[in-house]
Amino acid sequence: MCGIVGYIGKRQAYPVLIKGLKRLEYRGYDSAGVALITDTKGLEVYKTKGKVADLEEYVKDKDVSGTIGIAHTRWATHGEPSSTNAHPHISCSGNLALIHNGIIENYTVLKEALQRHGVVFKSSTDTEVLVQLIDYIQQHVGTDLLTAVRLALRQVIGAYAIAILDRNEPNQIIAARKSSPLVIGVGEEEFFLGSDASPIIEYTDKVVYLDDNDIAVLRRGAKEAEFINFDNEKIEHDVKTVDLNLGQIEKGGYPHFMLKEIFEQPQALQDCMRGRVNVEANNVVLSAVIDYRKELLNARRFIIVACGTSWHASLIGKQLLENICQIPAEVEYASEFRYSNPVIDSRDVVIAISQSGETADTLAAIQLAKERGAFIFGICNAIGSSIPRATQTGCYIHVGPEIGVASTKAFTGQVTVLTMLALALGKARGTIKNEDYVRLVQELDAIPEKMKKVLEQNDRIRDISRVFTYAHNFLYLGRGYNYPVALEGALKLKEISYIHAEGYPAAEMKHGPIALIDAEMPVVIVATQNPLYDKLMSNIQEIKARGGRVIAIVTEGDEKVKALADEYVELPKTVECLEPLISTIPLQLLAYHIAVQKGKNVDQPRNLAKSVTVE
Ligand code: F6R
Repeated sequence: MCGIVGYIGKRQAYPVLIKGLKRLEYRGYDSAGVALITDTKGLEVYKTKGKVADLEEYVKDKDVSGTIGIAHTRWATHGEPSSTNAHPHISCSGNLALIHNGIIENYTVLKEALQRHGVVFKSSTDTEVLVQLIDYIQQHVGTDLLTAVRLALRQVIGAYAIAILDRNEPNQIIAARKSSPLVIGVGEEEFFLGSDASPIIEYTDKVVYLDDNDIAVLRRGAKEAEFINFDNEKIEHDVKTVDLNLGQIEKGGYPHFMLKEIFEQPQALQDCMRGRVNVEANNVVLSAVIDYRKELLNARRFIIVACGTSWHASLIGKQLLENICQIPAEVEYASEFRYSNPVIDSRDVVIAISQSGETADTLAAIQLAKERGAFIFGICNAIGSSIPRATQTGCYIHVGPEIGVASTKAFTGQVTVLTMLALALGKARGTIKNEDYVRLVQELDAIPEKMKKVLEQNDRIRDISRVFTYAHNFLYLGRGYNYPVALEGALKLKEISYIHAEGYPAAEMKHGPIALIDAEMPVVIVATQNPLYDKLMSNIQEIKARGGRVIAIVTEGDEKVKALADEYVELPKTVECLEPLISTIPLQLLAYHIAVQKGKNVDQPRNLAKSVTVE
């Protein structure tokens, strides 16, 4: 949830840290801070409530010299956003500064014990207990920083990625990880630290992903970072080359990351399908299905676990897997699944879906499913993140970094992977007719071009959005494959415009939500020419009869719905099960433009953060 950056080397640290924080601001943005060992004064900590830009302003006249430092952008869990609760936290002795991403579960017990020994706490965060504990051990056991960190972490329960500076050991940064991501960039006699690789790739493409229970020592002038575990045993790590370029993590002329990512979808889907969908050979090949054929083909049942937007993609996945592979599929919120007592065993395949690959609830659901013997298949975007490492196999969606807090291209990437998975399994199981398989492969391949046609209607959708900024509530309706699209459209609007919105299966409207309909509440309905078209037409009539205002997502050239609706957006024709890949786009754009019209911060909506690494 929070973003961590660090630097040690020959450059001035501060500019590297501030730039890094800006790249990580999607992870949290309620306060920010930096700690430097400056050339003249030793350890200096500057922190403030607000965004990274506020920190820059605050630090304007301060001493920002020095070639070593750590910095943090916060998404508050324990303790309100304030400059006192902002990181870095300083120890009682004033020697140590520490930044942290995660949650310390036993912080109350540790805090009370330290208080009994006279340690005075300044903040109301869980994090401060870490720096005070390490400091206390250093002072009372008389150890160096590394030993103190190791001993302290053995007492800590929870999730953390941390980095620490010691004014008495000014030529090293110590970092550690458990259940929260941390990446080290390895340069020429310099090291970088980041919650992900985005603050690092400008300087080096060589990285080490820390594993749980790793402690890293970054020494000035060293060629390699050193790693130990909590038992002081040396750990070896391969240095990996990260395949990420600056263009992928910059706005590239778009006013917001969200808009850029919406427009990237045709290319993102091509990247997702590259080497997997072969339209000449009419084939879909997923290496995971080849490598784990037995486990996947013999699955008694699929259980898909995910959160938020990834959960909506899962609902589409359920329909794809059941219709194409004839294997029962269930969808569970990972947050509920982890505390349930699921009846699962080795005949079940659990599919975990996550853009970030770091969502704490999804990771915990995987852990539970593993303990009960299920086979785990991951669908993730962030390369090298925790979920792909916790699963037996899976597929990356390969849509590139998603930085806008509201998920867009990851959703269509997830649905594409689920479609490819269903096709590969369905063909292997013989549950799909060859002519249907060929048609779906051809249609899937054509989706990026069809997406472009929808994106061409951006100006029209912006004009529609202007009409509806007055609304305080929206209803989103869809059926079958487009029901999860309605849920996703409503979530997008809620997240970035703070307008209340509900997604419903269209036929359920008459069982309650119809009571809400009046001229004040716009209804967005995905009413394409699929087998339930006539029923959707009746729903539109019912809304109009009650004075409701309809924004319809229709199949190209459908004059009937166009005439009925107040506003419409046209979609190119495709097969029903692939419609979500294009019907989602107008809803993403509608939410985006309404939020922009209302002056909201689209890329950094209030209270949200991109990867939810806490419960
Ligand atoms: C919605 C959104 C969230 C995430 C959810 C799961 O726009 O971004 O609802 O989809 O927090 O995140 P991942 O997919 O990273 O596990």
